[in-house]
Amino acid sequence: MMAADKFAFMHQALEQRSPTHHRSLHPLVPQDAVHILQDGRSLLNFSNNDYLGLSKRPALIQTAQKYISQYGTGATSSRLVTGTYDIHEKVEQQLAAACGREASLLFNSGFQANSTILPLLVDRQSLVLCDRLVHNSILQGVLSSKAKFIRYHHNNLSHLESLLQQSHQKNYDRILIASETIFSMDGDISDVDQLIHLAQKYDAILYLDDAHAVGVMGTNGMGLASHRPEIDIVIGTFGKAFGSAGAYVVCSNLIRDYLINFCPGFIYTTGLPPGTVGAIAAALTLIPTLNLERQHLAQTAAFLRSQLHQIGYDTGNSRSHIIPLMIGDEAKTLRLAQWLKEHGILAIAIRPPTVAPGTARIRLALSSAHTTSQINDLISCLKSFEG
Ligand SMILES: Cc1ncc(COP(=O)(O)O)c(C=O)c1O
Repeated sequence: MMAADKFAFMHQALEQRSPTHHRSLHPLVPQDAVHILQDGRSLLNFSNNDYLGLSKRPALIQTAQKYISQYGTGATSSRLVTGTYDIHEKVEQQLAAACGREASLLFNSGFQANSTILPLLVDRQSLVLCDRLVHNSILQGVLSSKAKFIRYHHNNLSHLESLLQQSHQKNYDRILIASETIFSMDGDISDVDQLIHLAQKYDAILYLDDAHAVGVMGTNGMGLASHRPEIDIVIGTFGKAFGSAGAYVVCSNLIRDYLINFCPGFIYTTGLPPGTVGAIAAALTLIPTLNLERQHLAQTAAFLRSQLHQIGYDTGNSRSHIIPLMIGDEAKTLRLAQWLKEHGILAIAIRPPTVAPGTARIRLALSSAHTTSQINDLISCLKSFEG
């Protein structure tokens, strides 16, 4: 008897995915902070998260090279075995100091941090209230915690408060509020003060992911949450404005100690490689000094938004360097991305299931390395698109 194809479920899943939703990879070669080479063509990139252009900065490259020469290419074991080099601890101390916090802990990625820290903070008897639009890594963490889980309407803190009020009649052992500061697909910003107020009023743990604000906003450029000790746990990532890879938590000494002892995503993985730690260390020195870059980025974003509104584009509630062109219709969004590409601009279409049905968009992510003339090129190209 012929054995049934044990991978039939994969064929079926892939076949069920419509051709327009089939995901595939598109290799490219970076040329500088804002240009890439794809299929032999140079394109102006509006789709990466290198918000300060640091991934190509000589200081980061040189420090990464120096750390590799001195420490080798790998951390060679997990942090609790022999994978904590002096450079790991030094960066953690510098991060805590730059964020005005007691402690910090490195993780290998933001996904790993969110998906493995959250299950340690809540359990089956807990309640998690999280913003409807939080990143998938937060959802994964919450789902694996088995806690009761309710999503409040996006950035609607009245809805959050009504859920908190209802929760007080129930017997939860703990309540945790999870959100982001800048939302990755919308570029809008949470009301951090009100989140703190509600967390304190209802005695909830407050967990904020600051991935898209770090480097770009806040004291020392260290984001919108780090310097607020009332926020119990802040996640930042190094793969965006830090121009490198990995993530960190800033928190109290107690929470750091708890994570070192219990967090599988910290314990059971090889430490960040020395080259990456070098790039992070250099970025950490540089970021507090980059006020002019941050100012340029904010001004460019405000200029682009106003021009886009003038020519009839909807940018949702964006208030940051992430500016969505809300198109809605998926086919039209793809046509716009294709149009831009034909005119030398890379701006990726973001469609369901990454965003809610009916909200397909082009996500423009600005970098301080984009010049005004490049922004003007983008605007004139968008102006000439006829749908
Ligand atoms: C808000 C947010 N958190 C976490 C992550 C994951 O971070 P990393 O790329 O380091 O895994 C991302 C995106 O990548 C993100 O947008």
